[in-house]
Amino acid sequence: MYAPLRTERLVVRDWTPGDAEAALRIYGAEEVAHWLTPAMHRVGDLPAMRAVLQAWEESQPNLVRPSGRWAVQRREDDRVVGGVVIRMLPPYDEDLEIGWQLSPDTWGRGYATEAGAAVVRWAFEQGVDELFAVARPNNTKAAATARRIGMEWVGETTKYYDMRLNVYRIRPSDLAEPVRMPTDRAHG
Ligand SMILES: CC(C)(COP(=O)(O)OP(=O)(O)OC[C@H]1O[C@@H](n2cnc3c(N)ncnc32)[C@H](O)[C@@H]1OP(=O)(O)O)[C@@H](O)C(=O)NCCC(=O)NCCS
Repeated sequence: MYAPLRTERLVVRDWTPGDAEAALRIYGAEEVAHWLTPAMHRVGDLPAMRAVLQAWEESQPNLVRPSGRWAVQRREDDRVVGGVVIRMLPPYDEDLEIGWQLSPDTWGRGYATEAGAAVVRWAFEQGVDELFAVARPNNTKAAATARRIGMEWVGETTKYYDMRLNVYRIRPSDLAEPVRMPTDRAHG
């Protein structure tokens, strides 16, 4: 993402070291950590959060688009309320996952849906033809967000992390508004 993505209420942008306190309210929260896949564990304290953010910041330029990690910032008060990630799912690195996490005190306002939908559209504009989300079987909130974004349940699998996960998928044709590719824009 070269420039931040702006939605009605949110900005999706790169993480910075100054986000550590806000990030800890997300990745240090047991309510969030409980649902994370083994790709990410609960972050214990501020120094650990700073180290994680530094690692994300350093790795970001080397990732192949649309992979990346972004902060979700509320425009109303500039507070970082969540994070979004796009990454390859292990072990084969063939399927691209989109994941989202919100600070628990901001659940229930549609922020994950709003940020997720914008990032999905942006990823499709980069030429990706499908994205997956994975969630533990009883992660009803994640499932509901995936469906709100327009993702479809495609089954349950243990292939990614050796644990049962529900898999959701979205393709450009699932979006109500067609995706505009760079070539479309070039031709007006
Ligand atoms: C998954 C997670 C991000 C969902 O948070 P959320 O706030 O429920 O997500 P959404 O943005 O989809 O918001 C939907 C809720 O906001 C409400 N809402 C309010 N305004 C809304 C709006 N403008 N648009 C959409 N929903 C809105 C909906 O009614 C719904 O409320 P409900 O849960 O009471 O039914 C959050 O639970 C979380 O961080 N979980 C831990 C990490 C995780 O599991 N991530 C997913 C796998 S990577």
